[in-house]
Amino acid sequence: METLKIFGGNTLNGEIEVDGSKNSFLPIMAASVLCDGEIVLKRYPNLSDLIIMREILGTLNISTHVDGKTLYIDSRNSENKKITHDLTQKVRASIFILGALLGKFRSAVIAYPGGCNIGERPIDIHLKSFRTLGCRIIERHGYIYCYGENMKAGEVVLDFPSVGATESLLMCACVLEGETIIRNPAKEPEIVDLQEFINSMGGNVKGAGTDKIVINGVKSLHGTTFSVMYDRIVAGTYLLATATCGGHVLVKGVDSRHNSSLLAYLRQTACQIDVFNDKIELKADKRLSSIKRVTTMPYPFFPTDLQAPMMTLQSVSQGVCFLEETIFENRFGHVFELKKMGADIITKNRIAMIRGVDRLFGADVTATDLRAGAALVMAGMKAEGYTTIHNVDLIDRGYEKIEEKYALLGADIKRITI
Ligand code: EPZ
Repeated sequence: METLKIFGGNTLNGEIEVDGSKNSFLPIMAASVLCDGEIVLKRYPNLSDLIIMREILGTLNISTHVDGKTLYIDSRNSENKKITHDLTQKVRASIFILGALLGKFRSAVIAYPGGCNIGERPIDIHLKSFRTLGCRIIERHGYIYCYGENMKAGEVVLDFPSVGATESLLMCACVLEGETIIRNPAKEPEIVDLQEFINSMGGNVKGAGTDKIVINGVKSLHGTTFSVMYDRIVAGTYLLATATCGGHVLVKGVDSRHNSSLLAYLRQTACQIDVFNDKIELKADKRLSSIKRVTTMPYPFFPTDLQAPMMTLQSVSQGVCFLEETIFENRFGHVFELKKMGADIITKNRIAMIRGVDRLFGADVTATDLRAGAALVMAGMKAEGYTTIHNVDLIDRGYEKIEEKYALLGADIKRITI
C-alpha cells in the first residue's frame, strides 16, 4: 500500500509541463473502436484510468502499446464482446465503449458502469439519447443490452449537457448514415478534441463547443495520428497549488482559454497572473484574499473537477468564501479531511462556507476521489508539520507521479510504500 508523506511550508517555484488530458484520452481511446486501422495518439500520460481503458480495448481484440508519451492502437481486428462488470466497475468512462460499439457493430452488451464517491452517476441521458435514434435497449441483471440495427440519424435534445452522454452520442452517430443533431450538448474542450479526432479519421462532425453539434454519418473511418489536448484540470490544479503555497510557477503546454473561469476567479485574489501563448505564469507572494462566491457549472464556467483544489486555497485565504457544487450531489468528501487539518468549513447540502484560517496543521488524511486527493496534497504542502495521505491510488488515476512533479517545484513530498 502506498501513501504520500509531505512536510509542509515550502513555496513552489519553477516550470512544469502538463501532459495529455485524461478526460480527452478516455473517449478518444473508446472512439478508436470505430475505425479499421492503426491510431497513434501523442501526449499519452501514464495514468491508471488509461491503463484500464487499454484493458477494455484488449477484450475487444484491439491491441495497444505505449512508447514513451505515444499510445499505439490497432483496431483492424476488433470484435464485439460483452463488457463485463469487473471492467466497468474499475473506470466509469467504460460507458463510452457503449456508443462506440453501437456505432461499429450496431449492438452492445455492457455492465452498468461504476458510480463513485462523488455521486450516483446515472446513465439515463446516454440511454435516452440512443433510444431517440431508434436503439432498442433492455436493462436486466445489471447489464444493458442494446440492439441498434434499426437506428437512424435524427435530432437529440439532452436534458442536461452531460459530457459523457454527448461523447457517447458523437461516437455512435458519426458512422450512422444521415444527419444527426445534438442540442444542449456539453461544450467542454474535450468534446471539441473528440470531434477533431473523429474528423481526423475521416468523420464529418461540426459544432462541438457550441449549443448545436451537427454530425453527418460516414460509412467508415480510417486510422490517424493525433495529438490529444493538454489536461486543463491538471494545469488548473498546479495553478491553485501555487496560489495556496505561495511562489512563482510557469505552467507550460496549456490553452489558457480552457481555464478562463479559474483565471477570472484567481484574479480576484491578488495573485499575479500572466498568460502567453501556451503558458500561464502565476506569482503569489502573500496571503491571498478569499473569493466571496465560487460556483461549479458546465463549461465554460468553473469546472467541478477544480472544486476541491479551490476549496483548499479558500481554506487558507483571508476572508469567507461561499462555494456551491452544482454538478455532483456528493462531492464534499475532502471537507472532513481538510477540517482534520484545521480548516474552518461548514456545509449544508451542496454549499460550503469556508472561513480562511492563518494556518493548517499536518495530519493523516484520506483521499475520497482523485480531485479530493489532489486538494489534500495541496493542503499538506501548505500545512505546518507532516501530512500523510492515504488512498494514493485514487490520485494516480488522474495525476501522473504527482509527488515528483511537486518535488521538482520545491515541495518536500515523498511516496512511501508500506
Ligand atoms: C465527465 O464525467 C468527467 N469524466 C468528470 O471528471 C467531470 O467531473 C464531469 O464530466 C463533469 O465535467 C470524464 O470525462 C471521464 P456528466 P461524466 O455526464 O461524463 C448527471 C474527473 O475527476 N448525469 O457531465 O460522468 C451526473 O450524475 C471526473 O476527472 C445524469 O444524471 O459527467 C452529474 O450529476 C470526475 N445522467 C451530471 O449529470 C446521465 O446520463 C454531470 O455528469 C449522465 C450524467
